[in-house]
Amino acid sequence: MASKALIQTVKADFLDPSLYDDPGLSGVPRLSRGTVLAALSRVFDLAEGRRSGHAQRVAYVGVYLAGEMVLEPAQMEEVFFACLLHDVGMSAGATGPRVETGRGSRLISGAARASDVLSSVPIGGWADVISALATHCELGARIARKMGLGESVARAVGRHHDCWDGSGPPGSVAGERVPVVARIVALADRVESMIDAEGSPLLVRRRGPALVRDMSGSELDPALAETMAAIAGRDEFWLGFYDNDLSTSLMALNYGGMMSRDDLFDLIAVMSDVVDGRNGREPGTGRRVADLARKMALCCDMTERRADLVKVAALLQDVGTLGVPAQYLSKPDILSIDEMSAVQMHPIYARDILSEIPGLGAAAWWVGCHHERIDGKGYPGMLEGDEVPVEAQVIGMCEAFDALTSERPYRRAMSAADAFEVMRGMGGTRFDPYLLERFESVAGPFPG
Ligand SMILES: [Fe+2]
Ligand SMILES: [Fe+2]
Ligand SMILES: [Fe+2]
Repeated sequence: MASKALIQTVKADFLDPSLYDDPGLSGVPRLSRGTVLAALSRVFDLAEGRRSGHAQRVAYVGVYLAGEMVLEPAQMEEVFFACLLHDVGMSAGATGPRVETGRGSRLISGAARASDVLSSVPIGGWADVISALATHCELGARIARKMGLGESVARAVGRHHDCWDGSGPPGSVAGERVPVVARIVALADRVESMIDAEGSPLLVRRRGPALVRDMSGSELDPALAETMAAIAGRDEFWLGFYDNDLSTSLMALNYGGMMSRDDLFDLIAVMSDVVDGRNGREPGTGRRVADLARKMALCCDMTERRADLVKVAALLQDVGTLGVPAQYLSKPDILSIDEMSAVQMHPIYARDILSEIPGLGAAAWWVGCHHERIDGKGYPGMLEGDEVPVEAQVIGMCEAFDALTSERPYRRAMSAADAFEVMRGMGGTRFDPYLLERFESVAGPFPG
């Protein structure tokens, strides 16, 4: 049991096992904003029901185009971040309008796939589409601002559906009154969506320039569209677009500069706020759970550096829920098997996304295990006993305690003592009894 060896080795064949052998684990790595957000942008794709890597490919197109337009280096970075975050507002909104597609229903992300939208009547009607367009732009701008990415990035996210001819959502501006960064994002988003919808790279390669010119002067800035049409005639552009290592190449740009440990906490805490907001949890829940998890990690004799990584994992533990329909997460009733399977995917989504970030492999593994139980009845891996990392137990315990002591639509908040009593009842099944004692010494004492 964990009491014998708090820092243990966990076998994970999909990740480098040496990550879990090192008791001195090197702590929070030095990372750039660009690296972290390039990886986390996959969460936004999930929330929108887009093919993974959509936001990254939009960033590739945007930066390529910005380079061709000879923008200043600072503006290239703004294009990069605005492209990655263009639809982050979709992650923050609990519901958006959906259309039926051949592969089930999907959220409408505005005019990004105009063909999809125009060929189907949205569930809920057109008013829903217009309001979702305006809402996700506004929410997205607010999130970009909170992430400290600067006013130009926030404005571009807020205006990425404004059209050259002024036919965007209410409040849109037209022509050159739309900031150039926003015009580039709009173009990159439409181009990526068009390529994605086309399916075959060969067809796109042939038809690309004409398709871009079709939108020129209506949705898109004609000068930018013309430059893009010329780019779409180059093999070099397509080789980069379809490169399997595109994600790594974008991360290697290290845009936004290297962050300190506290900068990283601040950035990912905003992601945790997005998750709280989308899942109807009280603002600040994720931050509170993460602070408690860090305290408990220290109380379990982990080093400061390891405890920092536990905090990172705790802040991001539920980012994967953005890929699960919100109504399943808040359903007061018993979930159907299909609904339960969807919910149980969330640690896997988060694990896979975090494992892309250099130096966060161990945190990714803990996040992937935060719903495992020591009796082997947890998910997704049904790990047992010592196979469940202590860090994952710490995170799961802090999360469970916070959930029990918080108000839910279907039940009142429990007192701390009652909540701990419930958790004590899970000793030996869900949680390690020794860790429960440690938990009491951090969050307690609990009378009774
Ligand atoms: Fe959008
Ligand atoms: Fe998009
Ligand atoms: Fe979770």
